Amino acid sequence: MSKHIPEEIIEEIRLSNDIVEVVSEYVRLEQKGRLYFGLCPFHKEKTPSFSVTPSMQIFKCFGCGKGGNVIHFISAIENLDFIEAVKFLADRAKIQIPEGDDKKEKDRARLRSKILQINREAARFFFDMLHSQAGNRALRYLAERGIEEKTIRRFGLGYSPPEWDALYNHLREKGYDPEIIAKSGLILPGKKGGYYDRFRDRIIFPIFDVRSNIIGFGGRVLDSSLPKYINSPETEAYQKGRNLYALNFAKNSSQKSVLVVEGYMDVISLHQGGIINAVASLGTALTENQGRLLKKYFDEIIICYDSDTAGKSATIRGLDLLSELGCNVRVMTIPEGKDPDDFIRNNGTEAFLKLMDRADSLIEYKVKLLKNEIDTTTIEGKVAFIGKIADLLARVGNRVQMEMYIKKLSAEYEVSEEAVYSEILKRLDSGNRMKPVLQVPKEERALHAGGQTTGVSGEDRLLELERILVCLLCIDNNIYKHIKDIIRMPGFFSDETAPLAQKAAERIEEGRGLVPAELLNFLDGKNAAAFSEILEKECNFEDNLKAAMDIIKKMEIIKLDKRKQEILKMLGDKNSTKERDVVKLTQELNALILRRKKLN
Ligand code: GTP
Ligand code: MN
Repeated sequence: MSKHIPEEIIEEIRLSNDIVEVVSEYVRLEQKGRLYFGLCPFHKEKTPSFSVTPSMQIFKCFGCGKGGNVIHFISAIENLDFIEAVKFLADRAKIQIPEGDDKKEKDRARLRSKILQINREAARFFFDMLHSQAGNRALRYLAERGIEEKTIRRFGLGYSPPEWDALYNHLREKGYDPEIIAKSGLILPGKKGGYYDRFRDRIIFPIFDVRSNIIGFGGRVLDSSLPKYINSPETEAYQKGRNLYALNFAKNSSQKSVLVVEGYMDVISLHQGGIINAVASLGTALTENQGRLLKKYFDEIIICYDSDTAGKSATIRGLDLLSELGCNVRVMTIPEGKDPDDFIRNNGTEAFLKLMDRADSLIEYKVKLLKNEIDTTTIEGKVAFIGKIADLLARVGNRVQMEMYIKKLSAEYEVSEEAVYSEILKRLDSGNRMKPVLQVPKEERALHAGGQTTGVSGEDRLLELERILVCLLCIDNNIYKHIKDIIRMPGFFSDETAPLAQKAAERIEEGRGLVPAELLNFLDGKNAAAFSEILEKECNFEDNLKAAMDIIKKMEIIKLDKRKQEILKMLGDKNSTKERDVVKLTQELNALILRRKKLN
């Protein structure tokens, strides 16, 4: 499918084009709970049957059947083939595609890889310096902050000596050209010609991308002088807001939640304490790109910023954005304005995990902030407070959740449930009022796909079950380890689904993971539509693993029944079945019937 564009670039382009934004350029969308609806641009209709699911980044029309991810949407609406659509979206997101025969592009790719090489060499140099005579003070500083040698190694921490040209000279000796070194941001041109080192007399933190390339550096002073940190500038290899510090480790933690903290030192302390699902945003508000990146590996994002930063409107906007992307967001607060690094060093991992457990949901956190802002001892204050709570709760798509919040918040803040409820009702439009916005289809739904009652053939049912299973794998990469022995058996999947399952398995094994919308990158319009429908309609399970096991069972039943029919047919055909085969077939049939009984 990808022809000349590498699959990770296609995925980056997909991630950089939010489907709601893109579709909104063509269709007027209206939000209803977690979905957006609009009139389908691909067929004539008067009532909307076209929906976009931001959390999955897919679209689906239940009228005409079109569906897929943002690339399929552009391909259909702009009449482009898949690759042209990718290029179209690359332009839209201002992403450069390294083109096979474009010399400029080739040069950029070459420069990037040169910079990565220089960075690696520099990191080695800084690491060696930390452990040399020159690095004594730095090493002691780290020790005083409780950083162990094995942590230093894991994070590749280093030290840049105070001279103006220590690294520069080292890299020159290694044979790199000054102009190329300068492109890495590690050296700067001096006023009177020549170059000097950017990082001097600092602790060095190499910044890795998810594939463990060193894309840049941060450097901290050893005392209280300013600026406390300096970082690599944006280069061909490093773009701020596209990475998270320590995600290369955190993504392998096989945890459902990721903890986002502010600083290098916080992450490092947490990892040293065994909390390896922590990443750092490095002092800036989270971007959409980072949100999608996190969503790729985790179900839940727990933000742990110091209380100043966490309360800032830029931070809250960032959290709303994550939540709109379909991430489950919680906010954890550390008492007495401590940062995670202080806290875990003084109180230990257990205590930290307890705090993490108690993290507020985004709504609860916002209510807490409101409570601090509004004086609720006056009547006006209390009315305003209830109004604000209702504003927040009216936007909760899930009815059960809404009720839960009403109960909890009313009790906690001593306001009446009825008052909150009637304020919420005022804010809901009539269409929203009675039906729960988020449907929770039950496990049975997928099982019906394998039932005997429908008119669908066994082959079709089997294919659908296979597809649901592959979708489930992508929705919840964690189930892979429980079912890999089964699904990797030869012949488990049909030829149609096998390559997709294979792709998902590879990615999960590599620790890179695969999300549903990326799975669609490997499918043409027709198949993408089929998968989108499944994702949209069949995959809302409460327990993904249980659902997967049920599907596997259903698949086996269908296969056994099919084989049984085959055997019976052969046994019935006395003329062409040899006697020896009859014995064999009968044995197989008996075993099969036994097995089939067990599955009921
Ligand atoms: P310690 O003070 O050593 O504990 O570091 P920290 O990582 O806890 O830093 P802090 O909480 O003060 O700041 C969080 C993050 O913001 C840092 O890790 C840096 O990425 C960034 N940051 C802090 N100070 C500066 C600065 O002066 N310049 C820049 N560019 N970034 C900074
Ligand atoms: Mn700190």
